[in-house]
Amino acid sequence: MEFRGSELQYLQWSGDALAIGLFEDAVELTGELAQLNERLSGALQELITETEFKGKEGNSAVTRVGADSPIRKIIIFGLGKKEDLKLETIRRGAAAGARLAKKEKCQTLGLQLPKLNIAPAEIVQALVEGIELALYQDNRYKSEPEDKGPQVQQVDLLGFPNQEEAIARARQIVSGVILARQMVAAPANEMTPMAMADTAVAIASEHGLAVEILEREDCEKLGMGAFLGVAQASELPPKFIHLTYKPEGTPRRKVAIVGKGLTFDSGGLNIKVQGGIETMKMDMGGAAATLGAAKALAQLKPDVEVHFISAVTENMISGKALHPGDILKASNGKTIEVNNTDAEGRLTLADALIFAEKLAVDAIVDLATLTGACVIALGDEIAGLWSTSDALASELLAAAEKAGEKLWRMPLEEKYFEGLKSQIADMKNTGPRSGGSITAALFLKQFVKDTPWAHLDIAGPVWTEKENGYNNVGATGYGVRTLVNWVLDKA
Ligand code: BES
Ligand code: MN
Ligand code: ZN
Repeated sequence: MEFRGSELQYLQWSGDALAIGLFEDAVELTGELAQLNERLSGALQELITETEFKGKEGNSAVTRVGADSPIRKIIIFGLGKKEDLKLETIRRGAAAGARLAKKEKCQTLGLQLPKLNIAPAEIVQALVEGIELALYQDNRYKSEPEDKGPQVQQVDLLGFPNQEEAIARARQIVSGVILARQMVAAPANEMTPMAMADTAVAIASEHGLAVEILEREDCEKLGMGAFLGVAQASELPPKFIHLTYKPEGTPRRKVAIVGKGLTFDSGGLNIKVQGGIETMKMDMGGAAATLGAAKALAQLKPDVEVHFISAVTENMISGKALHPGDILKASNGKTIEVNNTDAEGRLTLADALIFAEKLAVDAIVDLATLTGACVIALGDEIAGLWSTSDALASELLAAAEKAGEKLWRMPLEEKYFEGLKSQIADMKNTGPRSGGSITAALFLKQFVKDTPWAHLDIAGPVWTEKENGYNNVGATGYGVRTLVNWVLDKA
């Protein structure tokens, strides 16, 4: 697919489908739209009337237009109320327009928006993100692609000339989101710890990052007993990934991004019996977002040093499996009584966070499909945010808002740490059922001493069962765009 910014507008452009964004109050055709309607012999007005199109967000419609017209189809999509317009509305509107163009077998698409009070580069970036992410189709595991037929090949962004830079930036970001989607969607028999490490090495060599893969013995030497405890039942060797992006010159800031990387979570001996086990290939969604962000940032080249870290393994069952009640020692010397082997993510993250802090960074952000409790609290679309730093929390909330990735701050209620007190060790890995996402965050907090730290529980939004805006059924790539905005400080 190719994107072009074009100075042409409305019917100056010719091609298969012209997609027009309309505000809720602007379905009365005036000015340029009235002219367009006239040139189309009233087809635009007919389409609006017949489909009872109101311009609400998510509304879209299409019709064929006369043979003497420079376009074959006209598509309309809603932008909601003018005063509520956000970049996310543009992303989702463009996605709706592009989906219709594809369904209607259009190969060239011209996209037109009303005049807006937002920087053109921002609009163009949002348009390209929305269209590319919506049209991405994962055919890797089909013997025949499901969407044969013509594909959208050329997209012209009408009224946006000279936007090559914004288009390129959007495509670099999308390449990271799609990598994350592909990794999360890949089954556990393919996306193994070795495959994750190979992916990190490939990103490093393609985009010029430094990469270090620590093997089991290396992790043993570092005393990573918590991570290795989780890994011990798997037939597959664990991999500890550390990718580094360094800008030319002195970095403005040094940060670490840590992702939970469970390529499969069976629960261990506390096996998942109440459902959910069949989707646990997604339990490396945090690591996927981390590597996706690495791919995007390596191309965007910010003036920030970024460390991308993941302790990758599977949580399996065998004669070597952790017993409930086992005591593990993390690399900072703290001991953990594993009262539930299914609370494994926090064990792997403990050693990863300790490793990150040793790098003397200014901030650490972790992303993890950590708890079902967070999904119960916030639902499928919103990730939870916990942070020891109000400043870091606001940066992340702003970055997420700009990305259109929903994030909600949750309390690090110290009193609840009582639920993790152990008779025999420094702490247990699991507290009571109530407040389960909060005690999980409090557990992680034990492994960060004084670096500003934030934890994102992405168990809900990493996957979707329904097509939604520019997300298709399956992996969403959640987190990549928030991380990119955060590192670039573009919120
Ligand atoms: N990977 C799961 C959390 C999860 C649940 C992710 C649903 C995505 C969707 C995590 O390792 C887990 O099993 N958490 C337990 C913790 C409990 C044992 C304290 C949970 O949420 O049930
Ligand atoms: Mn688990
Ligand atoms: Zn898990």
